[in-house]
Amino acid sequence: MYLLMLILLTVLAITTTSDIAPCVKIHIISARQSNSWPGEGRMGELSAAIIQKVPNADSEALDYPAYGDLWRYRGSVLAGDTAMVHAISAYIFRCPDSKIVLLGYSQGAHIIGDTLCGSIVELGFAQSAPINDTLGSKIIAAVSMGDPSFFAGLSYNNGTNKVNSGWFARRNNTVCAKYDAARVSYCDVGDKFCASGYRFWVHRKYMWRYKDVALQFVLARINGSKAG
Ligand SMILES: *[C@@H]1O[C@H](CO)[C@@H](O)[C@H](O)[C@H]1NC(C)=O
Ligand SMILES: *[C@@H]1O[C@H](CO)[C@@H](O)[C@H](O)[C@H]1NC(C)=O
Ligand SMILES: *[C@@H]1O[C@H](CO)[C@@H](O)[C@H](O)[C@H]1NC(C)=O
Ligand SMILES: *[C@@H]1O[C@H](CO)[C@@H](O)[C@H](O)[C@H]1NC(C)=O
Repeated sequence: MYLLMLILLTVLAITTTSDIAPCVKIHIISARQSNSWPGEGRMGELSAAIIQKVPNADSEALDYPAYGDLWRYRGSVLAGDTAMVHAISAYIFRCPDSKIVLLGYSQGAHIIGDTLCGSIVELGFAQSAPINDTLGSKIIAAVSMGDPSFFAGLSYNNGTNKVNSGWFARRNNTVCAKYDAARVSYCDVGDKFCASGYRFWVHRKYMWRYKDVALQFVLARINGSKAG
């Protein structure tokens, strides 16, 4: 009887502790693209590459609907904005010495923009405040690909599209300018969503085209922060 109890307790202890991963120095949060299966989506490739190079890193997938159809897009973005703040604050509450890397593809990139800048209320999106400075200071890098809220001319933009903005152009970037050095946003000519173009396949190619430079960017940011 006593032995059985001991075994039971041990099993319980193992299952409860294995639920919570130990704190790591670099915690990646990936927000997947619209209409993709739950998980990290296309950004999973970049997060795996970062984890391979950084000894003390792990990743989590943002838990949000990622609806791509226009009538549910706004609600999905709002759910993502809320989930993102919760994910960041929960992690930092538990692991105050860790740093956060945000990765977002398409709708996931829109959510990164909202997290840093606040939602685009002038285009009818529900109000969501920018993250506060305490949590914001923990974000050492943010990579966006094919962002529908892409706005041409920003300092951290990258990719071949220099002149066209996305479907939901984020015109006011005043509050989030303090994060510019931590960000990069890839958008190529012809992309339907970030460049208001007509070539649908462009939107799917960012990981193939920019994974290596994005990886180098994130590694340099981690290196510079002395967090790695
Ligand atoms: C920042 O936001 C988090 C999450 O919403 C909250 O717990 C924390 O108290 C806020 N910190 C400050 C200084 O406002
Ligand atoms: C941009 O946003 C900031 C903060 O929300 C606000 O104070 C400012 O008036 C806005 N600027 C424009 C041109 O809308
Ligand atoms: C941005 O684009 C340039 C080429 O125009 C490239 O050399 C640079 O590495 C890119 N930066 C990032 C962070 O991808
Ligand atoms: C990290 O920093 C060291 C020392 O400054 C430098 O030699 C190294 O090339 C850097 N690595 C990356 C990936 O930036």
